[in-house]
Amino acid sequence: MCGIVGYIGKQQAPSILIDGLTKLEYRGYDSAGVAIFDGSDINVLKTKGRLSNLIKLVIEHPVSGTLGIGHTRWATHGAPSDINAHPHMSEDSEIAVVHNGIIENYMEIKEELLKSGWHFVSETDSEIIACIIDKYYKDGMSFEDAVFKAVARLEGSYALGIICKDCPEKLIAVRKGSPLVIGKGNGENFIASDIPAILNYTREVYFLEEDEIAVITEDSIAIYDKDRNAVNRDIYHVTWDIEAAEKSGYAHFMLKEIHEQPKIVRETILKRVPESGGIDLDNIKLGKEELDNIDRIYVVACGTAYYAGLIGKHLIEKICRIPVISEVASEFRYKDPILDERTLVIVVSQSGETADTLEALRISKRHGARVLAIVNAVGSSIAREADDVFYILAGPEIAVASTKAYSAQVAAMYILTCHIALTLGKMSEEEFEVIRAELYSLPSKIEVILNNKSVEKKLAAKYKDVRNVFFIGRGLDYLVSQEGSLKLKEIAYLHSEAYAAGELKHGPIAMIDENTLVVAIAAQEDLIEKTISNIKEVKARGANTIAIAMKGNTKIADVADDVIYIPRTMGILAPILANIPDQLFAYYMAINLGTDIDKPRNLAKSVTVE
Ligand code: M6R
Repeated sequence: MCGIVGYIGKQQAPSILIDGLTKLEYRGYDSAGVAIFDGSDINVLKTKGRLSNLIKLVIEHPVSGTLGIGHTRWATHGAPSDINAHPHMSEDSEIAVVHNGIIENYMEIKEELLKSGWHFVSETDSEIIACIIDKYYKDGMSFEDAVFKAVARLEGSYALGIICKDCPEKLIAVRKGSPLVIGKGNGENFIASDIPAILNYTREVYFLEEDEIAVITEDSIAIYDKDRNAVNRDIYHVTWDIEAAEKSGYAHFMLKEIHEQPKIVRETILKRVPESGGIDLDNIKLGKEELDNIDRIYVVACGTAYYAGLIGKHLIEKICRIPVISEVASEFRYKDPILDERTLVIVVSQSGETADTLEALRISKRHGARVLAIVNAVGSSIAREADDVFYILAGPEIAVASTKAYSAQVAAMYILTCHIALTLGKMSEEEFEVIRAELYSLPSKIEVILNNKSVEKKLAAKYKDVRNVFFIGRGLDYLVSQEGSLKLKEIAYLHSEAYAAGELKHGPIAMIDENTLVVAIAAQEDLIEKTISNIKEVKARGANTIAIAMKGNTKIADVADDVIYIPRTMGILAPILANIPDQLFAYYMAINLGTDIDKPRNLAKSVTVE
């Protein structure tokens, strides 16, 4: 949600900032801008629309300078417009600020400044930050003191990059509730919302923690807590390559990431279920003693991560017989959930920065619950604050629509379930051996589905005019339906709903007619007869039907108009396979509809505001 980048050093800042912003555009893309100090003034270039508009502007109005900040925006306060785009300046262009997050008390500060004669040009909450810093600066404080004083007044969540015309030797970075990393270079330093933005320049980064402020020059990085005590932070060496965050010849990041799934699922499984035997949860403290002390588990997340969590809830309850409550994080945080030291909270997040999930984690910890995070982004806020972290090893996921992270999260749920079941004696070694062999076969089965993607492509062409889609299923199939439906909404902007197949006749079947497409996930063979009946019911009302079923299931072909077959596997492992056709179908539907697949309208990759 909004991307920030900043540079101080000897190179030309504009190209470094633009390069960084191209890696951050997934975080927001309704406007973008840069502020460059040219040796005497701060010049701001900003514009509504995609980054390409800003690049055009920078070419038409070249600026030079070795200090600067940049921003790509996902609007919260104020519509996307040139004026509301960041950076924001104080009235006399003394201070420039880029902001990711929301200032909750901005009206109060704005009114105070208005009374003292300040003027504002934008509708944003962010502009007041530049102005309040400038006010303190004009009151006689140093730039640094003014920032500390202003930040102490801000409520809400924010990552900030700040520069001051009179102090061009300093770039100040602030973090509260929104991520920020500092890249350490040689005679130059960087700030960014995410590592890929600066990976072309450095691999050495510091993660700024909550309520910390960094004062950065070209040769030094000083980090302070909110009481202005100096903080010693270990440097983190980034081991992955920028290529991991590039398209490698695929038309879209989403398609690339869909194709990465065999590799990622293989790596996630092999790391935790080594061929040498057993399950290796590394340092995760979830042994017999800890598990005996757990009465209940919560699975808390948002969006796709939540749907992956639902698979975990289903399996842990079914196999381990522990009650599991699943909650979307935005509900969990406001409902006073029952939490104590006998509760395990599993939070799931690709980015590790989702504001609601992070807050759910904090609430859980405050109530004494133990928090296990299933996370992709290494070193993210959720990873750092959780008691234990299960990294899913999916690498950078750039497309806004999550695909590979879901598969890796579901794989993590399989592993976690087996670990808990084995530890508590709910699964025998023999039963586990059968599952283990099947787990190892999943990557090649995903490959089979991907090699047959022409099936989904043809179906997307056949159903390209459909505007209403229902995804139905029973048991685990219903959980997969929810993710399938979300993918179609997200990238094809189609109205789609996921329904437990048995629930259709309690209302939604009234909407079914010959213009409706029903995608029935039918990979749970113990429930297949029931699902077949539901397919017949919707067909009788005119719906077009696609079924996703395991190979060899011929009965379903007699009922559904089209069938997408997936390789056979155990019912409990079917979700990871049954979801892939949904991803491909959504992708090709979106291609037909001409949407912006990697950056769908109104969305951002990491939702760092609530
Ligand atoms: O980074 P997270 O996994 O915490 O993100 C959660 C959701 O915002 C995310 O899964 C969202 O629903 C995706 N865009 C779905 O494709």
